[in-house]
Amino acid sequence: MSKINIAIDGPSGAGKSTLAKAIAKRLNIYYLDTGSMYRAVAYAAINSGTGIGDAKQVEKLIAEIDLRTVYEAGKQRLLLEGKNIMPYIRTPEISRAASDVSAYPCVRLKLVSMQREVAENYDVVLDGRDIGTYVLPNSKHKFFITADVEERAKRRYLELKNKGVDKCYIEVLDEMKTRDKNDSTRSLAPLAQADDAQFIDTTQMSIKEALDVIITKLKE
Ligand code: DC
Repeated sequence: MSKINIAIDGPSGAGKSTLAKAIAKRLNIYYLDTGSMYRAVAYAAINSGTGIGDAKQVEKLIAEIDLRTVYEAGKQRLLLEGKNIMPYIRTPEISRAASDVSAYPCVRLKLVSMQREVAENYDVVLDGRDIGTYVLPNSKHKFFITADVEERAKRRYLELKNKGVDKCYIEVLDEMKTRDKNDSTRSLAPLAQADDAQFIDTTQMSIKEALDVIITKLKE
């Protein structure tokens, strides 16, 4: 029997991951954070000294990388050489590097095949940039979640502040604009709305309102 696959795409800070987690919980299915996989590759590149500027080195890294997605008690973990690296990949440095590393086709091809494998084996909500357009173009449930860049930057600024990270709003806004540009202009599978995705703008919406809209659409 084919699995339920729900694709949630959109730019950073639009509320995708909060919504994707909430949908997964509501439907009692798995959640796959595909951005965390690009973050994991960036983390591996930085920590191994490979860096992300040299295409040949990145190709070698990705050919040899021991990265696995596993579920423990229903929660996604990313194991790099057996070690759970989820706690270390949410820094601003890794955010920038993940966006850069995601432009390499060799990185995308490897991670997309891992994502498709999860989607084949589990009922799952996937969030990312290219799920509806490239990873699972045949998914019957696609959503594109966005919000004005100023609102997204404000949310990210508050999130960082709550974590004790001291950054000024303008810096966060600039970084968000740079990431939007990087993510939507790369040649392979850029950030884009699939033609058959439902568009949801969360600028003026709470997460609960957005979740209600999505659940209603899914029931339809
Ligand atoms: O969703 P996130 O901020 O954790 O994603 C980090 C970076 O990974 C993002 O800037 C672009 C890249 N990414 C991607 O290219 N494709 C995806 N499906 C998910 C993320």
